[in-house]
Amino acid sequence: MNAAIPRPRMSSLTDLQPPADGLLEDVLSGLSRSPKRIPSKYFYDHRGSELFEAITRQPEYYLTRVEQALLDARMPAIADAVGTGAHVVEYGSGSGRKTRQLLRGLRAPVAYTPVEISPTALEATTTGLMSTFPFIEMLPVCADFTRSVPLPRAKRPARRTLVFFPGSTLGNFTHDEAVDILTGMRHILGQDGRALIGIDLQKDPALIEAAYNDAAGVTAEFTLNLLVRLNRELGCDFDLAGFRHCARYVREQGRIETFLVSLRAQEVHVAGRAFRFGQDEAMRVEYSHKYSRGGFAALAAAAGLAVAEEWNDPKDWFGLRLLRPV
Ligand code: AVJ
Repeated sequence: MNAAIPRPRMSSLTDLQPPADGLLEDVLSGLSRSPKRIPSKYFYDHRGSELFEAITRQPEYYLTRVEQALLDARMPAIADAVGTGAHVVEYGSGSGRKTRQLLRGLRAPVAYTPVEISPTALEATTTGLMSTFPFIEMLPVCADFTRSVPLPRAKRPARRTLVFFPGSTLGNFTHDEAVDILTGMRHILGQDGRALIGIDLQKDPALIEAAYNDAAGVTAEFTLNLLVRLNRELGCDFDLAGFRHCARYVREQGRIETFLVSLRAQEVHVAGRAFRFGQDEAMRVEYSHKYSRGGFAALAAAAGLAVAEEWNDPKDWFGLRLLRPV
């Protein structure tokens, strides 16, 4: 699928040619398992990214608003802790709003590297930021941040690397996957780098569940859009009226688990193979982990990283953690 999209032409682009994602393979193997599952990274086609942006504007979805306010409030302290002349490396590239907050707030960052699997999103992010920050060298890398990423070298030497991973995106990964991502991060940080990570914190489950079950139904549409994508890109025959969105907070695991639940017994076809769903059968499509203070520190420690600074919003709903290599 990636191969069909022309890659942006930017002289500074590092293209690690991430393999076209294994959508068909992942769907076939996920539907063959019991319980069935599909990786949440497949939510983010064009429509899915639009719907996620719409989620961030829902009153119940506090994460984005609280993180932005926290970044604004703590920017002086973050700038002090990071120091001057950083090479900022962002894992993924969102709408760019938080990136702008950070690049504006830091002291004379020398370069910015978004690490992004989608060449079109990478291009949009980079060209958008170039005009606002003409003195920051843009060094985009087209790669999958869940694998190891060699860092391009900035023309002006950077004093240190700062990896920025906001949005509690880390929470979409299992514990072991998160340790792998953080371990890869530690490698690109070297001896003296830092990582700034946004994490959603454990709180009243009712508040968390509401964030993933907004009254306007945007999250439900976001979840069901996964089936729209599979029908379009793989020629599946999921009946959109035959499934419902279900997101619940599992306290013992400290995470939201999101499912598509089959409303009746039915059969779905993918690449000539038939898959049976029973009535009320739930297919898992996302985890969204919520962290405790100690739980996150332990996760970081498992990857050889220590918490250097921690900042929470006044209600302790969302946190930013500055990590350093041990
Ligand atoms: C993309 C990780 C920030 O897990 O909260 C939002 C994705 N899924 N609503 C999250 C999401 C359902 C989101 N992040």
